[in-house]
Amino acid sequence: MSSRISLSRFLIEEQRLHGALPPDLRLLIETVARACKAIAHSVNKGALAGVLGDAGTGNVQGEAQKKLDVIANDILLEANEWGGNLGAMASEEMELPHSIPEHMPRGRYLLMFDPLDGSSNIDVNISVGTIFSVLEAPEGNTQPTEADFLQAGSHQVAAGYAVYGPQNMLVLTFGHGVYGFTLDRELGSWVLTHRNMTVPATTGEFAINMSNQRHWEAPVQRYVGELLAGKEGPLGKDYNMRWVASMVAEVHRIITRGGIFMYPKDARDPAKPGKLRLMYEGNPMAFIIEQAGGLATDGHRRIMDIVPQGLHERVAVFLGSKEEVARVTGYHQG
Ligand code: AHG
Ligand code: MN
Ligand code: MN
Ligand code: MN
Repeated sequence: MSSRISLSRFLIEEQRLHGALPPDLRLLIETVARACKAIAHSVNKGALAGVLGDAGTGNVQGEAQKKLDVIANDILLEANEWGGNLGAMASEEMELPHSIPEHMPRGRYLLMFDPLDGSSNIDVNISVGTIFSVLEAPEGNTQPTEADFLQAGSHQVAAGYAVYGPQNMLVLTFGHGVYGFTLDRELGSWVLTHRNMTVPATTGEFAINMSNQRHWEAPVQRYVGELLAGKEGPLGKDYNMRWVASMVAEVHRIITRGGIFMYPKDARDPAKPGKLRLMYEGNPMAFIIEQAGGLATDGHRRIMDIVPQGLHERVAVFLGSKEEVARVTGYHQG
């Protein structure tokens, strides 16, 4: 038991090892991790706590909100408001950034989150999660506005996700590799269980919502066509397919055993670059996947190089095992 490393101990040791993890960032991560524990508790209670089903409201993404979308958002706001390490927060579920109230201490960081990812899966008891990303507010700005959030993902100082499944896990990066923690429910603590998580460079597994096939662009049609052709096709091997419809669950599978995840642009709405959100889904997952040795592109460029134009900007996503992401990105580049 004594050899167990808690999240708190891990973070303090990281701080000593790489001066790159400042104490205020460490405390911010502890707060987010505590909020994820509270969200896990609500998700795990399910019908017993009356948290399943629709909230009866909509969000800025044009989606109907589930009760747990709203609960998870409130938990993250409340937990982070008084910590003193943040200037503002932005969320998939809120149109505008949430500033830290006047009477509370402020800090230099900006926190972005997808409070509940995969929320179509809540009512059917399939894994969901929380995704978050941390940026630093431009120097000296104690009253951050929306414009301060519009930084390329390469500026992220931390990112992570929690997956609420058969086990509750927290996966983190600060730019020095990827680490996974499992929630010990009895002790109520996140315990380091996965060191230096890496995405295998090659894979025989892909994830895409095939029901949208007729709306994809030519490079995606070509690539998925080759995957489906299997041994008899140009790639000369059989591929397996998975689609959970929770990005956190797909990324967690990929970081565990490899694979490629795709959510491409869709011809139904030519003005929309993709379905997933750059700030709450694309960037944090790209940071984690790159830190684990994988690749993340929008088909044309590295996701983390995109300079966002708006808080709720969408992005096409191709991420996971290097060899496959490079192949489908190459098909887009011609
Ligand atoms: P969210 O629940 O946060 O709105 O995100 C859902 C996302 C993502 O998790 C998943 O990969 C994708 O939407 C599923 O989309 P489809 O329903 O089109 O398969
Ligand atoms: Mn949503
Ligand atoms: Mn999501
Ligand atoms: Mn969500």
